[in-house]
Amino acid sequence: MTALIELRGVEKHYGDYHALRGIDLEIRAGEFFSLLGPSGCGKTTLLRTIAGLEQVSSGSIRIDGRDMKGVAPNHRPTNMVFQSYAVFPHLTVAENVGFGLRRDPRAKSEKARAVEEALEMVGLAGYGRRRAHALSGGQRQRVALARA
Ligand SMILES: Nc1ncnc2c1ncn2[C@@H]1O[C@H](COP(=O)(O)OP(=O)(O)OP(=O)(O)O)[C@@H](O)[C@H]1O
Ligand SMILES: [Mg+2]
Repeated sequence: MTALIELRGVEKHYGDYHALRGIDLEIRAGEFFSLLGPSGCGKTTLLRTIAGLEQVSSGSIRIDGRDMKGVAPNHRPTNMVFQSYAVFPHLTVAENVGFGLRRDPRAKSEKARAVEEALEMVGLAGYGRRRAHALSGGQRQRVALARA
């Protein structure tokens, strides 16, 4: 079986700082892949390069056999739960989860159902109308997960 995500010789420099060195990895479809390492070792940088939020300095990233060079984040088949969660405090839980569906062509009721299903999946059924600023840290984290 071929890899769904394949990195070859990925390097990332932030100015003089060499954040990623020669990263080779393959992740297969359905595989649960953990990246473990001390603070500052480059885990977030690696995820951001896969999502297209950072450009690699050299090396290649292929997703489903397709080279991601020059492909914008919104055109990659990826999603990311940010470390700071990036939950919008002034929106409700449901508005946060449905944020990426604003331009989805499905009917409003269908999108609302998708949001409710995602909230159920993370154990937040019934929280849709709550303002996001009025949640615990763990609940905020689950809103970010449901949105992704
Ligand atoms: N935009 C940037 N400009 C310069 N250096 C950066 C930038 N972003 C991250 N770094 C540096 O790159 C290194 C890797 O950062 P990264 O955020 O990938 O670490 P991490 O493994 O996710 O750490 P943590 O476990 O603390 O979240 C760190 O030393 C960090 O200071
Ligand atoms: Mg990090």
